[in-house]
Amino acid sequence: MVDGHFPFRSNRGVNLLPLIEAKRDGRTFPDGQLEKFVEAVAAGRCQDEQVAALLMAIFLKGLDTAETRSLMLAMRNSGEVLKFPEDERPLVDKHSTGGVGDKVSLILAPLLAALGLRVPMISGRGLGITGGTLDKMESIPGCRTLLSPGEIVDQVQRIGCVICGQTDKMVPADRALYAMRDVTGTIPSIPLITSSILSKKLAEGIGSLLLDVKFGNAAFMRTPQQARELAWSMVNLGRHCGVRTRALLTGMDTPLGLAAGNWLEVREIVDCLDGRAPTDLEHLVVESAAHLLELSGRERTLDAARSTVLGCLKTQLPRYRFEEMIAAQGADLDAFRAKLKQDTSAPVMRELRAPKAGIIRRCEARIVGEVVHQLGGGRTARADSVRPDVGVDRLMKPGHAVDSGLVLARVHAMDEAAADTALTMLAEAFSIGDEPPDQQPLILETIK
Ligand code: URA
Repeated sequence: MVDGHFPFRSNRGVNLLPLIEAKRDGRTFPDGQLEKFVEAVAAGRCQDEQVAALLMAIFLKGLDTAETRSLMLAMRNSGEVLKFPEDERPLVDKHSTGGVGDKVSLILAPLLAALGLRVPMISGRGLGITGGTLDKMESIPGCRTLLSPGEIVDQVQRIGCVICGQTDKMVPADRALYAMRDVTGTIPSIPLITSSILSKKLAEGIGSLLLDVKFGNAAFMRTPQQARELAWSMVNLGRHCGVRTRALLTGMDTPLGLAAGNWLEVREIVDCLDGRAPTDLEHLVVESAAHLLELSGRERTLDAARSTVLGCLKTQLPRYRFEEMIAAQGADLDAFRAKLKQDTSAPVMRELRAPKAGIIRRCEARIVGEVVHQLGGGRTARADSVRPDVGVDRLMKPGHAVDSGLVLARVHAMDEAAADTALTMLAEAFSIGDEPPDQQPLILETIK
C-alpha cells in the first residue's frame, strides 16, 4: 500500500510522490488513487516530471488487472462518453493496432452499417510508418473528420456509421498521458496500451469490440507472443467492463492489400467495395465483419456470419453506405468520383521494375512504410501535416512469379527527386528467388 497521503496539494499542484515511490517499490495502488491521478492529469494539475516518473515506474513494474481496469475506467470517464438512443441495431467497433496498407476500417464501417449494425468508429492519425484512418478519410475532397458528439450520434443513427476523430472533450486524460509517454519511452507497456486503447473504444458506448492486434516487422508488436499478450490483456479487460471483446492476431510483415498511402488506399477500398479486392484484404474484411456479426448476436455461428457478409459484399449497399457516410461528413461526391478516375493525383508517378525473373519472396512492410513516410505520406510528430496523394501502389506480393522488367510497384511522389529516393529505398523491400516463400496465414489466431 502507498504510504503518505495522495493527493496532497503543494503550491505546484498535486504531489504524485507517494504514488511514484509506491510503484517504484513494486506495491499496488490502493483503490481510488489512480482515479485521483487521472483526474489531476486531465485537469493539468500535475508536474510533468512527476507524471513522467510515475509512467516510468508503471512501465517498469507494471499494473495488475484491477489497477489496469481502474486506470482505463478513470481515463474513459475523464471526458464525454457517447450515448446512443435505444435501438435494435447493436453498437460495434473494431480497432487495429496499426500497420502498413491497413485500410480495413474504411470498408468495415459501411459494410457493417449495410448489415444492420451501428458503428461509431472513432479513429486516429498515422504516426511514424503506421498509416491512420483519419488521414485516409481526409484525402477525400471535402471530407471532415472533426465532428461534435451530437453530430456523431446523429450520423450513426441515420446512416449506421461514422469514421471521425476523438472530440476535444473525449478521453482528455489519454491525450495528456499519451503525449507524455511518447517523449519518455513509455509507450510499449501492455497495461498502458490496454488502458489507452480501451478507454477510447469504451467511450464510444459500444457493446461489442473486435481488436486486430498486428505482429511483424511493421507492427508495434514484433512477435506473435507480444501481440498475444496485448490481445489477452485487452480482451480480458474489455469483457470485465461488459463489452463483448475478441481479438485477431494478424501478420504485418507484408503490406495489407496492394497500396499504401492515404488516397491510394481510399482508391483500393472503393475497388474492394466494387468487388475487386486483393485476396488478403478481402479475407481480413470478411473475417472481421463475420466476428462482429457473431459477437453482437446478429448471427449464431461464424460460418453463417461469413456467408451473410459475402452476400452483402456482392450488393452495392456497402458502397452506397460509404458514399452516404462521406457525404454526411462534407465530402464533395462529384470531386471524389472524378478523383477516382485519375490514374494518379500526385505530380510524379514512376515504376519500379523487377531486376530479374523469379518468384517474389519478400515485400517488406516496414520498408514500404518508410517509403510512404519519406514521400510525405506519414508524420514524425503529431502536429505534422501529411501529403494525401503520395504513396505506393500495384505492389507485387510474395508468391507472385515475375519476369525481368515487370512492374513490382508504382511510386506516387511530389517531385522527381522524392521519386528517385523512394525507388531506391523501395527496391530494398523486395527479394526475388527461385523458390516460393513459406507463407504464414494472415490471421494467426483468434483470442476469445
Ligand atoms: N495506440 C493507442 O491509442 N494507445 C497506445 O498506448 C498505443 C497505441
